[in-house]
Amino acid sequence: MKNVLQILGFTALAAGAAVPAAARALYFLENNPSGANIVSLKVSSQDGSLSDPTRISTGGSGLIGVGNTGAAVMMDTLFSQDAVVVSGSHLFAVNPGTNTVSLFSIPKHDPWHPQLVGSPVPSGGDFPMSIAYSPRHRLACVANSGAMNTVQCYDVTVAGLRPSGEPMPLPLNQTTPPAGPPSTVSDILFNPSQSTLVVTIKGSGTGPGYIYAYPVSYGKVHPSPRVSRPAALGLNFGLSFLGSDSRAIIADPGFGGAFVDFDCNLDASVSKVINITGNAATCWTQYSADLHTAYLLDAATTNIAVLDAASMEVKSTLASPAVTAGKFDAAIGDGHLYTLDASDSISVYSLNESTAVQTFNLTGFGSRQLFQGMAFYGGSVY
Ligand SMILES: *[C@@H]1O[C@H](CO)[C@@H](O)[C@H](O)[C@H]1NC(C)=O
Ligand SMILES: *[C@@H]1O[C@H](CO)[C@@H](O)[C@H](O)[C@H]1NC(C)=O
Ligand SMILES: *[C@@H]1O[C@H](CO)[C@@H](O)[C@H](O)[C@H]1NC(C)=O
Ligand SMILES: *[C@@H]1O[C@H](CO)[C@@H](O)[C@H](O)[C@H]1NC(C)=O
Repeated sequence: MKNVLQILGFTALAAGAAVPAAARALYFLENNPSGANIVSLKVSSQDGSLSDPTRISTGGSGLIGVGNTGAAVMMDTLFSQDAVVVSGSHLFAVNPGTNTVSLFSIPKHDPWHPQLVGSPVPSGGDFPMSIAYSPRHRLACVANSGAMNTVQCYDVTVAGLRPSGEPMPLPLNQTTPPAGPPSTVSDILFNPSQSTLVVTIKGSGTGPGYIYAYPVSYGKVHPSPRVSRPAALGLNFGLSFLGSDSRAIIADPGFGGAFVDFDCNLDASVSKVINITGNAATCWTQYSADLHTAYLLDAATTNIAVLDAASMEVKSTLASPAVTAGKFDAAIGDGHLYTLDASDSISVYSLNESTAVQTFNLTGFGSRQLFQGMAFYGGSVY
């Protein structure tokens, strides 16, 4: 009997079967100018609920973006999506105050204590605020939104991050810290096949924003991007691909969001504008592959728009208590959606049941102003 089990266990491993990780964690960045941290929380395997927030130093520090009057902004201090990214056992985070990037290794049985790999490395520009990882190419790329606004890529090695190529310039005339939200970088990510690196950039408020698309091949990002400026998009914010390389959803705080198509030349065009009723500042996006649905999150409303990715129609809303006040960065894991709220809390939703299952209060833990980014580890997205 023991032999049979061993053989079965060996077979499952050899076939690379998706064995669910025993432990699940949720992470966000504490963008603290006097020392930045990853905050990790335990995630219940029963109902996805959260507990036990813990700080782990990133080895760098934070920096707060300013508004158009020059005053430090009170939320979304990086004007970005994807400040923290998890892929396999890697966790990446930005340190905008020290212009560095941190790589962590996530212990499978204790994901609440990710371990720094080497020291944080220079970000190749000022004010890093979003990061992307391609497991296929073992390549990470960071976007910088300050005076020196650039994209820098790295080979991800067992010893840490090694620069791959030179910093690639972005088009903004900015300061450090940047003044936004207009004219700041929003998001950096790879497409599903990891053949393209995409960067979204907000326009000035009077003209269109930008979508940069860099070809990736033989493990390198080519430094000549395809630049698209669809007229329908002004403040190009968070972007999520919808299961294929050809279609994505993008948030625009001016009206809601839009479905964006990429052609084989990497030109981006708007296939459908989504005007959201009651839109105030829709900035973040998520995609559930299980349900083929997309989510648009608004900094000033508690209702999350749920879109059918096939029909491109708004099909429902996810509601949470009014006290949560608005929705920022988010992550999906194990059938649950986690949102950083405008109040000092994280909301947890069951996507299958379209219900809010928990509001995890962080007021006793730390200052909402510093919280940014969100990423999930474990369970079925292993
Ligand atoms: C960049 O911004 C500064 C300060 O707002 C301004 O003086 C300068 O003319 C701008 N440069 C360009 C190229 O737009
Ligand atoms: C969205 O709203 C804009 C401005 O009101 C309008 O011009 C446009 O036709 C609307 N688009 C859709 C798809 O409803
Ligand atoms: C969190 O707790 C504080 C203090 O009890 C309370 O004022 C606040 O409304 C709570 N936030 C949420 C989102 O429930
Ligand atoms: C959600 O529903 C889908 C479709 O019914 C099902 O395949 C999936 O396993 C469910 N997920 C969870 C986490 O219950």
